[in-house]
Amino acid sequence: MGTVLRKTTRWHVRWMMLNWIEHLLAILFLLGTACVMYGYFLEPHLIEVTHHKVGHASIKSGAIRIVQLTDIHLGDFMSLKRFDHIIDHVNALEADIVLLTGDLLDNAKTNQKMDKVPESLLRLSEGALKFAVFGNHEYEFGGESNYRKILEESGFRLLVNETTTVVLNSQTLQISGADCAIFGERDYTFMDGIDPALFHVFMLHQPDPIDHYLLVPIDLTLSGHTHSGQIRLPILGTPILPELGKKYIDGWYRHTERMSQYVSRGIGMTMLPFRFQSRPEIAVFDIGVE
Ligand SMILES: [Fe+2]
Repeated sequence: MGTVLRKTTRWHVRWMMLNWIEHLLAILFLLGTACVMYGYFLEPHLIEVTHHKVGHASIKSGAIRIVQLTDIHLGDFMSLKRFDHIIDHVNALEADIVLLTGDLLDNAKTNQKMDKVPESLLRLSEGALKFAVFGNHEYEFGGESNYRKILEESGFRLLVNETTTVVLNSQTLQISGADCAIFGERDYTFMDGIDPALFHVFMLHQPDPIDHYLLVPIDLTLSGHTHSGQIRLPILGTPILPELGKKYIDGWYRHTERMSQYVSRGIGMTMLPFRFQSRPEIAVFDIGVE
């Protein structure tokens, strides 16, 4: 009798164990499925507008608003229709200056609706000054000329290792842009035009090469490229980080007494149509005396 009872108890415990493991697997499966659904259907649409104040003695408080757009990746995962909704979002922000820090196009060569892009971009922040730099995606697929043409037709000025001086709302500031650090050329001649007394914003698509520019009198560097990993997993962190985007991944970095860098999570997606714990971002910078 005692042996039968012991056997029954053992089987019961085994059954309970099996049941517990099955329950756990079922919960993990459901959680995993929920995360995949969230990353595919929901998070890519949850755009976050982040607001930042950047003080500078030469700019009157609140006089200049810069909106940074980056890594839109128009293509399979970002239709023009969806981008048009994002443009409405940006227009409500009343930017004085729009800075596009690369990867507007996912595949600059084969995107079928390339000729429609300027029509959309012309609607973006009408009246604002607009500047852009190359991202690696514009080079990677041999679409440099397409990108140049789109920007030209859309009222954007492309800055490739160049500095320009802007007078806006009675304020003077300087904007410069570096070439893509992977496929373009590093060239410091843009420094010749810099007036260190002025507020200077620098567009650098890949964030990590900022280490080569620390002696340049730059106040604010704006980067993208990393998508903040695009997928951020618990414990594992960011398993996918691009070349030259592994050190400065997202948010603010203070490099020198003068220079800070902001790395935006960007708007679109590449490689995988998912974002997880890395919401799309439009970054707004109000420049002026604090
Ligand atoms: Fe990108």
